[in-house]
Amino acid sequence: MKKIIIDGGQSLDGVIEVSGMKNSALPIIFACLLIKEECVLDNMPRVSDVHNSLEILRQMGAEADFIDAHTIKINTKNAQNIYFDMDLISKMRASAYLMSSCLSRYGSVHMVYPGGCNFGARPIEQHIKGFKCLGASCTEDGEFIALSLSKRLQNVKITLDKISVGATINMIIASCVGEGTVTIENVAKEPHVLDLIAFLNICGANIRLFGNSIRVVGVRSLNGKRYRIYSDMIEALTYATCVGSAKGKIYLKNVDYEHILPIIPHFEKTGISIKYKNGFVCIKSPEKLVSTSVFTAPYPEFPTDLHPQFSAMLCFCDGVGEITETIFPERFAYLCELEKMGAKFKKIGNKVEIYTSLLHGASLDATDLRAGAALIVSALGANGRSEINNVNYIVRGYEDIVPKLSSVGAKIFYDNK
Ligand code: UD1
Repeated sequence: MKKIIIDGGQSLDGVIEVSGMKNSALPIIFACLLIKEECVLDNMPRVSDVHNSLEILRQMGAEADFIDAHTIKINTKNAQNIYFDMDLISKMRASAYLMSSCLSRYGSVHMVYPGGCNFGARPIEQHIKGFKCLGASCTEDGEFIALSLSKRLQNVKITLDKISVGATINMIIASCVGEGTVTIENVAKEPHVLDLIAFLNICGANIRLFGNSIRVVGVRSLNGKRYRIYSDMIEALTYATCVGSAKGKIYLKNVDYEHILPIIPHFEKTGISIKYKNGFVCIKSPEKLVSTSVFTAPYPEFPTDLHPQFSAMLCFCDGVGEITETIFPERFAYLCELEKMGAKFKKIGNKVEIYTSLLHGASLDATDLRAGAALIVSALGANGRSEINNVNYIVRGYEDIVPKLSSVGAKIFYDNK
């Protein structure tokens, strides 16, 4: 497996084009099982989770492939509920969306538990609770999960006990075709949830967000349409943390600025400026940054998917920074890797204090997608050469991260040895 090599200390300057949002691309791909016509999806990121999701649909008999650099065509007319590559499913969190899409399309699903990045427990009891509210029955044996739903109940209210992106998305997908109204309460409002709603509504669904609830008025069927998925706010903000560690100024193209707006003040507190100018987002770092404190929470608060990268950036800030992780309290595996580079920190429960550190290059292991991105952030600002192993985690969610950073002056390349 190839490694990423980074010679730190080069400031960044240039333009990076941000890709489409992985976390909405995946549910939208699986939601195509509800539509027995051709759908064309633009701004699709070329990341391995997308390729694997398309492969799952193909194995079910659907047409699902890239027809252009960032455009895919999906037609699930002939897809059947007969074959799943359980190995592929167990590797991906987004395969959880097969539960709702197959329940809606076929009335049943039998699959292994969805996998995904390993940063602590990833329970699905809220998903199951919701499916049961819709009238489904469920059996679990610790390895496999089987759901069946002969007729979705009408006029149902589902109250999620926890704000969950996955459970909110699954309830939307399971509810949108059928009779009656489903109200989902205590929902996640991440841009990827809104992206899915916008796509399904264009296809003929009737889904509306009211405060913390989503009302889904069932429709008889959905029509195939062309849709452009949102751009990836986490990728955009990951590049902002790269500018923080390496310094310099970059322009980002293809950013949905309003999605990153609520997060910008956290960067501004460190001295980094993020401004929209003529279709580009300009990110600029002063030579000296000041530390800040953040706690992760559902959108529009600070995203857990930006925690490891932001934490790596805080090593380059003056003063004591703090991150409190309220969503995945065990999401700290990356700290052991940062320690190899000389990072100074103190972990107290679900909080870490990060002290100003002089980082040096080291041999590092990515432990999951965002943890891997955090190692890139830290290596860009460190003295000397770093090598990052387990690159497969990083390419799950970052399209062309190596050429993109190289094009703005970073000394970063793949070592295929
Ligand atoms: C999704 C994203 C992931 C992101 C996360 C939070 C995808 C493929 N993954 O993951 O990148 O980090 O949102 O923004 O889009 N919970 C329960 N019971 C459940 C479901 C969730 O207790 O049934 C808890 C989780 O343990 C966690 C919190 O709810 O503490 C949020 O999890 P959730 O939003 O569901 O994360 P995912 O959908 O798995």
